[in-house]
Amino acid sequence: MKLVFYGAGNMAHAIFTGIVNSNVIDSNDIYLTNRSNEQALKDYAEQLGVNYSYDDEALLAKADYVFIGTKPYDFETLAERIRPYITDKNKFISIMAGLPMDYIREQLDTKNPVARIMPNTNAHVGHSVTGISFSSNFGATSKDEVDNLINAFGSAIEVPEDNLHQVTAITGSGPAFLYHVFEQYVTAGTRLGLEKDQVEESIRNLIIGTSKMIERSELSMGQLRKNITSKGGTTQAGLNALSEYDIEGIFEDCLRSAVNRSIELSNQDDD
Ligand SMILES: NC(=O)c1ccc[n+]([C@@H]2O[C@H](COP(=O)([O-])OP(=O)(O)OC[C@H]3O[C@@H](n4cnc5c(N)ncnc54)[C@H](OP(=O)(O)O)[C@@H]3O)[C@@H](O)[C@H]2O)c1
Repeated sequence: MKLVFYGAGNMAHAIFTGIVNSNVIDSNDIYLTNRSNEQALKDYAEQLGVNYSYDDEALLAKADYVFIGTKPYDFETLAERIRPYITDKNKFISIMAGLPMDYIREQLDTKNPVARIMPNTNAHVGHSVTGISFSSNFGATSKDEVDNLINAFGSAIEVPEDNLHQVTAITGSGPAFLYHVFEQYVTAGTRLGLEKDQVEESIRNLIIGTSKMIERSELSMGQLRKNITSKGGTTQAGLNALSEYDIEGIFEDCLRSAVNRSIELSNQDDD
């Protein structure tokens, strides 16, 4: 199986690095290309043992899976570049946010199978939660192959294409929402009188430790919380204060706003 990456930027880098490091396929079967930054491709080739090329005809002649990792606004130029060389064996995997499969196929002038994936930045540490949807002509074996590739940099959740907006909100933008909550926690912590650096360092370790507890436990998050909340104790006092606010409603607003923006952006791209 041969993979070609059109675009070797921030997100594509996390993806092909995860795939190489997990040994799902030989690094020699991975080919990179981009617009013009050849030095970046050289560096990746040296570091990871992957190949790079600007010969589209040769790249597409061998590609089983073609990852499209440009920004959405660069896609039309990319489509023009590769359209003449697409072969029947090419299955496309778009990592571009917002661009519908129908539009991608129209621009590429192909009926070949297309998948859309919505990874998140945690792909850099092998922990992306990646939403995926497949065109109806994506065969079962190919779906399994793509799932394997995605599991190389985290976990996959398959959804109908329309639901990628929700995935974009919950896990695509999710790291930023959690960072924001953690930032507020640090600010509040410093108001209690400890040094800011001390508080920040403690909270980083608190978050890492709590994530590991979630990872290792089969209990729900609610149960993990109950297990450390004694009646009448300090944790209970803090939680009582939190329950005065509609935290669930705040997060619902946050997620609905992100979903609406994702829908708006994909409609703009349709225009
Ligand atoms: N960053 C995230 O957290 C995230 C999450 C989910 C989805 N995404 C999606 O991932 C995509 C890429 O984002 P990014 O942050 O990785 O972008 P990026 O770092 O700017 O990388 C863009 C890449 O596309 C290449 N490119 C541009 N035009 C091209 C062309 N005509 N032919 C071939 N390659 C071309 C660029 O090459 P040069 O360097 O040579 O210009 C560069 O390698 C976006 O569509 C975004 O929606 C990103």
